[in-house]
Amino acid sequence: MCFKSQKHCNRKAIKRGVGLLSALLLTTAARLFSQNMTAQQSTKTITIDARAPRIQVSPTMWGIFFEDINFAADGGIYAELIKNRSFEFDDPFMGWRRLEQKNSPIKVDFNGKLLITSRGTSQPHTGNHRYAHIDLSGYFGLENEGFRAMGFKSGEPYRFTAAFRLKKGTSLAIQLAVVNDSGIVQFKTPYKPLAATDTWTTFEEVFTATSTINKGKLLILFKGSGALDADMLSLFPVHTWKNRPGGLRKDLVQKLYDLHPGFIRFPGGCIVEGRTLVNRYQWKNTVGPVAERTTIANRWQTEFKAPRNAPDYYQSYGLGFYEYFLLAEDLHAAPLPILNCGMACQYNSGEVAADLEPYIQDALDLIEFANGDTSTPYGHLRAKMGHPKPFHLKYLGIGNEQWESQYFDRYKIFESRLKLAHPEIQLVSGSGPYNSGKWFDDAWSTLRKLHPSLIDEHYYAPPEWFLDQAGRYDDYDRKGPKVFAGEYAAHGKSGKAPESANSFYSALTEAAFMTGLERNADVVRMSSYAPLLANVNAWQWRPDLIWFDNLHSIATPNYYVQQIFSLSKGTEVLATTSAKAPLKGQDSLYASTTLDSTTGKIYIKLVNVSNSSRALTFRIKGLTTHSKSSSILGKWTLFTADSPQAYNSLQQPGLVRPVYLNFGQSNLMKRKQSQKDKNKPEQFLGYPLPLINNIGDDLQLKVTTPAGAVSVFELSLNPQKAIHRHINNTRQRHN
Ligand code: AHR
Repeated sequence: MCFKSQKHCNRKAIKRGVGLLSALLLTTAARLFSQNMTAQQSTKTITIDARAPRIQVSPTMWGIFFEDINFAADGGIYAELIKNRSFEFDDPFMGWRRLEQKNSPIKVDFNGKLLITSRGTSQPHTGNHRYAHIDLSGYFGLENEGFRAMGFKSGEPYRFTAAFRLKKGTSLAIQLAVVNDSGIVQFKTPYKPLAATDTWTTFEEVFTATSTINKGKLLILFKGSGALDADMLSLFPVHTWKNRPGGLRKDLVQKLYDLHPGFIRFPGGCIVEGRTLVNRYQWKNTVGPVAERTTIANRWQTEFKAPRNAPDYYQSYGLGFYEYFLLAEDLHAAPLPILNCGMACQYNSGEVAADLEPYIQDALDLIEFANGDTSTPYGHLRAKMGHPKPFHLKYLGIGNEQWESQYFDRYKIFESRLKLAHPEIQLVSGSGPYNSGKWFDDAWSTLRKLHPSLIDEHYYAPPEWFLDQAGRYDDYDRKGPKVFAGEYAAHGKSGKAPESANSFYSALTEAAFMTGLERNADVVRMSSYAPLLANVNAWQWRPDLIWFDNLHSIATPNYYVQQIFSLSKGTEVLATTSAKAPLKGQDSLYASTTLDSTTGKIYIKLVNVSNSSRALTFRIKGLTTHSKSSSILGKWTLFTADSPQAYNSLQQPGLVRPVYLNFGQSNLMKRKQSQKDKNKPEQFLGYPLPLINNIGDDLQLKVTTPAGAVSVFELSLNPQKAIHRHINNTRQRHN
């Protein structure tokens, strides 16, 4: 599957080795999950050795990648319901319709005229340069269609705001009404007078939806005789994330929050680069008063052919850099902004900037905006926007997915200037769009000689690639720059339903691969699935981590895999081997283990991609001399599905989801209460629950994993005894 221009796709397909091998492996995948309990296997005992040198897991290990693609921002997480609220789209009336006798569901005597008026004197304009001038005698009406319509929830309050100034007449009034997808009025407000002033004044009206509508539209009616100017016509749910006016969609931010991300990368992706440099993401245009931010065409508007093109895809920048930093803070995630390095997307114009100075200045000013004292110009702006305290920026990406010398030359200049001015900021460079090949190798060999803290690798590849690459980082240079696995997703089979691209099988293979990221946590310090969000009615790229429509959102199997790893991150990696080798595909099994040294919990991850269940024994050495198995609490997170192609949809959001089962001490207690069952092994879905025993100085955990399953066995040991026992033996390979 490929998503860019044909040329790009062909190149990618060749590089990614989509061939006979993949086809054979796909056939195997289709045979998965036959639940064959008697299959032969050779991997029976897996050793977890806490006496071996441990490496540290970065707190930023599992994060999120936000890009405004698939209507992720406007029409997505940015909760604005009105499209083209200030008439700034190239077609200033896009998304709007005038109400007339023949088309209005509210029958009144329409009589008026509309002129889109420009404040600007030159093209291209910056800021908000247009407004609507309306003359009326009787009634005048506008309808806004929203972003693929608007969602309303019964009982929920909505806040309409707009800037008006009266030019003629003194007693104009306004009414709001909501129609459903059949155009029938569902609820409306009484007419309310507009302030009789000829200076811009904010009008506000809060109304409550009396029915639930997935595909509604908003009608705005004016009554009276006179003339007015109208701008920034806006409608938000009152209950946004943290109830911030003009804020973010609560359900979507909650899903991000529940991932416990270690970092959030923003604002992209190719959106950083733009199709041309004029179209690039310029953070300074996204801060300050929302009404003054410059709306521009989204670079994904024209990237693909219909139905994936989106002529109405713009960036209002209501979600701008201030809001991204705030979101990072809310999520307790480290902010990782990526800045344009003086290059437009090389798959489009590939335009480069002759003068890099404004781009470098943007980077310096961004650091000041995030961290600077409030006496500095950009620190002052941050304070004025409501956040006097710094945002604690530590990481900064220079360029998104660039390649060849034009990138390396530019990166080098950025690096020397930024390192000098801000040695405290860790710079993130990139290895281009491919996971291997000439561009990739050139990037690594050139950047290795420079000083990026991290190099961003991207891989969109078939699921089998992820299985094959579970050992990718085992032999990486431990002394070179660290890796940021910044964009990845298994692209496998998909059906017509948008969400079907997020199959359980794709998630399973990502989980297998992620055990390799975790095992190499001294090299891989950050990773994120991509893209993050997608509107089912307006997507350009799939698979994606979270799908949504106007009212609902769903977690994909891939989301659950990210969440499972994030919730069992730990602080140190414990060596996990079978026959002295890391488990990276032997018998179709993948495993890794971490210890959280602050809580004393151990997280054993086991991924079984075969079509057979597996009975296995973990032998845990070096932690438990004093830990009695009977005092250990166990929790089994089990993530499996009925079929490899199973996926969650808006219609069936909970089809594929993890289950959580307790074992160990808590279950023994329960079993004591029911004496008659005490000799029967406890079962779940026909599989025995894990059993813990002490064998000499070691701890033994017997488990049975179903076919096609991701498991995390969480053991809560006695922290004092468990953590410090081998502390002196611990050699840290990375700080
Ligand atoms: O995630 C979608 C796109 O994939 C990103 O914008 C780009 O960085 C990559 O090619």
